[in-house]
Amino acid sequence: MSYDYKEIVPFLLNWFDYNARILPWRENPRPYYVWISEIMLQQTRVEAVKEYFYRFTKAIPDIETLAHIEDEKLMKLWEGLGYYNRARNLKKAARLVMSDYDGELPSDYKELLKLPGIGAYTAGAIASIAFGLPEAAIDGNALRIAKRIAGSLEDITKESVKKELAEDFKRVLPKDRPGDFNQALMDLGAMICLPNGRPLCEQCPVMHFCQAYHKDMVMQIPVKPPKKERRIEKRTILLMEFQDRYMIHKREPKGLLAGLWELPGIEGEWSAAKLRKGLEDQGITIDSMESLGSAKHIFSHLEWHMMGYHVRIQELPMEFLHDNAYVMADGMELKSVYTLPSAFSAYTKGLW
Ligand code: ADE
Repeated sequence: MSYDYKEIVPFLLNWFDYNARILPWRENPRPYYVWISEIMLQQTRVEAVKEYFYRFTKAIPDIETLAHIEDEKLMKLWEGLGYYNRARNLKKAARLVMSDYDGELPSDYKELLKLPGIGAYTAGAIASIAFGLPEAAIDGNALRIAKRIAGSLEDITKESVKKELAEDFKRVLPKDRPGDFNQALMDLGAMICLPNGRPLCEQCPVMHFCQAYHKDMVMQIPVKPPKKERRIEKRTILLMEFQDRYMIHKREPKGLLAGLWELPGIEGEWSAAKLRKGLEDQGITIDSMESLGSAKHIFSHLEWHMMGYHVRIQELPMEFLHDNAYVMADGMELKSVYTLPSAFSAYTKGLW
């Protein structure tokens, strides 16, 4: 249901004037910086993004450099942020911007939407923050705040609900400060109108307009259907050491962690004895083997429950060295060349 948010706008902006978070990409909202930050922030928390943003924009200062960056370098800069397709799409989009838009990010919502990795929310954020265009940016924060204010029990995961809110916000957006309006919602959502646990309503600049607050329904709104449970996959992870080098394996080009390097792994939970036999059957002579314990990594739809083993190898069959999918990398190379996703970090501690 449509709702009139006109009255909250001046209160929200005034609050933002005094309480806006100081964030690296806000110091100089060049379109390139806004774009990179919004892509990083799609699935990663602000605190975690800050360091990545500095490092990324220092190494790749503009769109032209991004369009020509080596894939391995790009992945290394993204290492640990997760959802690596975001980085691949950034490069694809940069190439398109170079070929089709004269090297400048387009200052138009619909054109932005055509670029890989940019959906409705990100197009709205870039258009409003970088170009001052009157576009809404509807993310979880905007939905939570709006539905609490309106006292609405609509399911916020529905596309129709997001679309309608975008229209409602577009109607009341301050034409001179659309970017601040959108970012005020992001900051209010991060600092006051919290998603988990009780929000800090007493500190909220729009408390007086909030139906959920007045009806004591802040914990019931927003309404979302329950999440599907994640599938659990057991894996055995091998830290295979040979002559001060460690074996890494390139994953398939499609699917989970596509094209990234990994510590070799096997599906299922293998006992030490079974693993020893399995490795020996492949012609590997084992010097020593010790357990590295269990670890868990959570992906959006899947959990890896892992058991790790440190295997010191005496002799490695030549097949492994001739297969391009396997590399024996030393600590320095693991640190600066190859991208190992954080799923393996429990087993790579201390290697570099
Ligand atoms: N989350 C997504 N975009 C953001 C921004 N520009 N500022 C703060 N938090 C955000």
